[in-house]
Amino acid sequence: TKGRHRDHMGNEIDEQPLVAQRVVDALAPAITDGLLWRGLGLPPLDEIDRVAIIGCGTSLHAGRAIAGVFSRVGGLPTRALVASEAAHEVWEPRTLVIAISQSGETADVLRALQGLPAEHGTVLALTNNPSSSLARRADAVIDCLAGPEIGVAATKTFVAQVLTGVCVALSGLTVSHRADATLLDADVRALTATPEALSTARDTWRGPAATLAAEFARASGFLFLGRGAGLVYAAEGALKLKELSYRWAEHQPAGELKHGPLALVDAGTPVFIVDDGDPRLEVDIAEVTARGGRVIRLGERILRVGGLPLHLPRTGPSWGPLETVVPLQMFARELALRLHRDVDKPRNLAKSVTVS
Ligand code: M6R
Repeated sequence: TKGRHRDHMGNEIDEQPLVAQRVVDALAPAITDGLLWRGLGLPPLDEIDRVAIIGCGTSLHAGRAIAGVFSRVGGLPTRALVASEAAHEVWEPRTLVIAISQSGETADVLRALQGLPAEHGTVLALTNNPSSSLARRADAVIDCLAGPEIGVAATKTFVAQVLTGVCVALSGLTVSHRADATLLDADVRALTATPEALSTARDTWRGPAATLAAEFARASGFLFLGRGAGLVYAAEGALKLKELSYRWAEHQPAGELKHGPLALVDAGTPVFIVDDGDPRLEVDIAEVTARGGRVIRLGERILRVGGLPLHLPRTGPSWGPLETVVPLQMFARELALRLHRDVDKPRNLAKSVTVS
């Protein structure tokens, strides 16, 4: 059913705080003592040398965010792989494979799993469809509880996948000897604050997203920059913009700017910065503004002291500033509507890609 918007995507964006609350309520209590991890029948992390996460598009981005938890909190080597390229992987023993797909029917993901050696070990499926082909193929399955998503552009399933994967990862790490206890505690606290952060982002950006869409209606290209844990949300913002508005959008690690992409920046070039608190972003922003680029900064924490903005260092969770995806989705949708695109059914794309 449609809510306040005429399109499904708008309603699915709006639903994200509720979806996040559902995931946190269902899974967070089972993080402690590794209940969630053990309930899935997963081997103790001490018996695993590395994690490989596979997925496509937005699900791959969710995988990259989840990978940050295993590597930053657990020091566990973790890679997120493009499923369609995984055929070239050399699979090592003692690797936990996490396959992410909202539909559970994405051919590239299913094919990547076919290439796994038989003795390889455990495959965990993270999906919004627990009776899908992916769920049947996996050794363990976790439902990301997003509810039906009609819009071709993934929105609430992204948030649900990230939070579900984060809960699973944190649960595994609580029973391993490799986790940093301080980071783990901070992450569990940040998790419970996430639904509120998403709803604040949604409510704050309703007007500004439309205003920015009007400002950039004629822009031919967009840059999305981030560093560290912010980069994955820059990538997701660029993907949403391409998919919905049919405009060119590129994401880059901000540190790469001067190695090439800075040449794209001209007077008025829109440059979205996802701020994860890395102080080096100030220099990146100065480089862009010096060329006349128009910076839109997301995720920062600003205090006004005597009328002057004071940028606070932000120590966010290991999966980065997830709430920044909300304004990025809203901006992509607003721009697409302004350009008379069908935001629920972008051209050339399907909700479930069952050919590889
Ligand atoms: O069903 P899946 O999660 O496996 O789909 C993967 C991608 O096709 C999907 O995320 C796609 O990138 C979205 N339409 C992006 O919004």
